[in-house]
Amino acid sequence: MSVANYAARLPKAELHLHIEGSLEPEMMFALAMRNKLDIPFKSVDDIRAAYAFSNLQEFLDIYYQGMNVLKTEEDFFDLTMTYLNRVCIDKVRHAEIFFDPQAHTARGVPFDTAISGILTAFTMAKAQFGMTTKLILCFLRHLSEEDAFETLKQAEPWLDRITAVGLDSSEVGNPPSKFTRVFKAAKERGLKLVAHAGEEGPPEYIIEALDLLQIDRLDHGNRSLENSALVERLIREQMTLTVCPLSNLKLCVVDNMRSHPLKQMLDLGLRATIHSDDPAYFGGYMNNNFNAVIGALDLTKSHVKTLARNSFIGSFLSEGEKRAHLAAIEIIQSS
Ligand code: ADE
Ligand code: ZN
Repeated sequence: MSVANYAARLPKAELHLHIEGSLEPEMMFALAMRNKLDIPFKSVDDIRAAYAFSNLQEFLDIYYQGMNVLKTEEDFFDLTMTYLNRVCIDKVRHAEIFFDPQAHTARGVPFDTAISGILTAFTMAKAQFGMTTKLILCFLRHLSEEDAFETLKQAEPWLDRITAVGLDSSEVGNPPSKFTRVFKAAKERGLKLVAHAGEEGPPEYIIEALDLLQIDRLDHGNRSLENSALVERLIREQMTLTVCPLSNLKLCVVDNMRSHPLKQMLDLGLRATIHSDDPAYFGGYMNNNFNAVIGALDLTKSHVKTLARNSFIGSFLSEGEKRAHLAAIEIIQSS
C-alpha cells in the first residue's frame, strides 16, 4: 500500500479548521441567493480566480467578505454540517473547530445565531456518524482586547459547550501580549487556550503566547524553527503545533511544498500535526494536506502514523478517548 493510501485510511483529528474557511464558492452562491444578497462575483470560476494571495492579509480581506452571506442559524448549520460530512471521507473522527464570532456580530448577526447553528450540526454529526467535535471561540487580534472581553461576555451562557478560546486574524503588529488579560479571564472560566503564532509573526510572538497567554496548543508555529532555544522548549514542554501545509503554500509562508518545514519539525521531535485551516480557500481538506506533504517531502508510513497519533494526543479529548483513537490507529494495516 502506498504511503498516501495508508494516510487516507488512518483515523485523524482536525485541530485547526476555521469553519468560515470551509465556505465553498458553490455554497457562497447558494446562500447569497437564499438570503437575497448581492456578491461581487458572477460565477464560481470568478470566485476561485480571486483566490490568489501573496500574504495572510490578502486572504483575510477575501475571507471576511466571503462570510457576509452567512446570516441565519440555518446558514451556520448548513456550513458546519457540510464540512463534517465532507471530512468523514478523510477519516476525520474528531474535530476541534474555530469560529470567529466578532466577524458576525460586527455585521449584525447575533452571537447566539452563529453558535446555535454550529452546535446543532455538532449534535447531528455525533448522532449520524459518531464524529465527536469541540468548539473553539477565536478572538480577532486586529480588534481591541476590550472587544474580545465583550465577546467573552456574550459567550458566558454557552461556556459549557465551548472548549477553548483562540487568537486569529492579522498577526504582525498584533502580538499575543495585547490579549494577556482576556486569556487570563478565559482560563479562570475553565477554558483551554490556543493561539495562532509564528505563521507570519516572529519567534518572539510564540514566546509571548507561551509565557503571557499560557497556551495549551500552538497554531502554526512555523517560525519557531528560527530560534533553537525555542524549539528545545517546545519539545521539552510537549507542545502541539497545528501545521497547515496547503495554507502555508497559498499564503506564501513557504515558497514551495518541497521547502515546507513539516518533516524537519517531526525529525527534530516537535509534536507537529497536519490540518486544513481554510480548506475552501487553500485547495484541500485533511487528506489533500497529507498528500501534498507526502509527495513533496517523501514522508514515510512512520511519519504519517506519527502525524495521525499526534492529532489525537494534541487534542482536548479525555485520556480514555485518546487511548481509544490511538488503538484504532494501530489496527490499520500498513502493507
Ligand atoms: N483566520 C482564518 N485563517 C487564518 C489564518 N491562517 N491565520 C490567521 N487567521 C486566520
Ligand atoms: Zn488558522
